[in-house]
Amino acid sequence: MRNELFNLSDKRVLITGASKGMGKAMATALLGYGAHVVISSRKQEQLEACAQELKESTGNDKVYPYAFNMSNENEMSSLTDFAFDRLGYIDVIVGNAGVNPYYGSIEEISSDAYQKIMNTNVYANLKLVNLISPSMRKRGNGSIIFTSSIGAFKPSTGLGAYNMSKLSLLGLTRNLAAELGPFGIRVNSICPGLIKTDFAKAIWDSPEGEKRAKSDIPLGRLGEIDDFKGIAVYLASDASSYMTGQALTICGGSNMWT
Ligand SMILES: NC(=O)c1ccc[n+]([C@@H]2O[C@H](COP(=O)([O-])OP(=O)(O)OC[C@H]3O[C@@H](n4cnc5c(N)ncnc54)[C@H](OP(=O)(O)O)[C@@H]3O)[C@@H](O)[C@H]2O)c1
Repeated sequence: MRNELFNLSDKRVLITGASKGMGKAMATALLGYGAHVVISSRKQEQLEACAQELKESTGNDKVYPYAFNMSNENEMSSLTDFAFDRLGYIDVIVGNAGVNPYYGSIEEISSDAYQKIMNTNVYANLKLVNLISPSMRKRGNGSIIFTSSIGAFKPSTGLGAYNMSKLSLLGLTRNLAAELGPFGIRVNSICPGLIKTDFAKAIWDSPEGEKRAKSDIPLGRLGEIDDFKGIAVYLASDASSYMTGQALTICGGSNMWT
């Protein structure tokens, strides 16, 4: 029973932002539970090294790297064509890649930076779904997982546009869940707190970051990438078969239900 509930051997996964950080940890867990996985990020060399490492660490060689920049949404069919070719079908999408090219007041953000944040963090995920959901509909099942952020739930004087994009991603999650639910396709978002990755290094790698871990996080520590393995397996597997449209905070309790 335990093995069946989380068994991913018939799952075919496409995961973006997978060469390091939370995406790599999620890919590790999904492969470890038997899934076949296309991993994607921008840098070919790093991605291939990651694929080799994942094969060795999980003992699962069904991992296929494809370099793609999620800011190039007009060429995204090259990524999905590759994934369909290697996997045969796709029943799990992990839209994990995200960008933040700007820190500062939203009053002063350039049009380019704003468009890049919104396009990559929101529209590219919709486009990815649009290229894959027709085949999920035909198969009558699917699980779509986005990486949002606890930043979606509050304003910020430095990360305003990024937080707005992550809130918009929750709106996308909810709406896709409503539209795709009748076809057996579930859509959920993971909202990480502050996690020790390169992406957020400027925030956590400082005396203030340490202080925040002690004062604002009930579990008393910053997040680690391995904290995302369990939620990835849960959402990809049939264990979460009645969950859709949700925003799941993984943040050591820094953001609790109110
Ligand atoms: N760390 C945190 O505290 C935190 C908190 C909340 C939410 N998040 C979100 O979590 C997600 C993953 O971030 P992380 O913290 O794990 O970061 P990370 O360790 O820096 O990893 C980011 C991954 O995404 C890839 N990537 C970056 N830009 C990309 C693009 N334009 N197209 C395709 N791939 C791209 C990177 O590889 P390449 O550079 O080779 O492309 C890498 O594989 C992001 O959506 C981020 O917004 C992070």
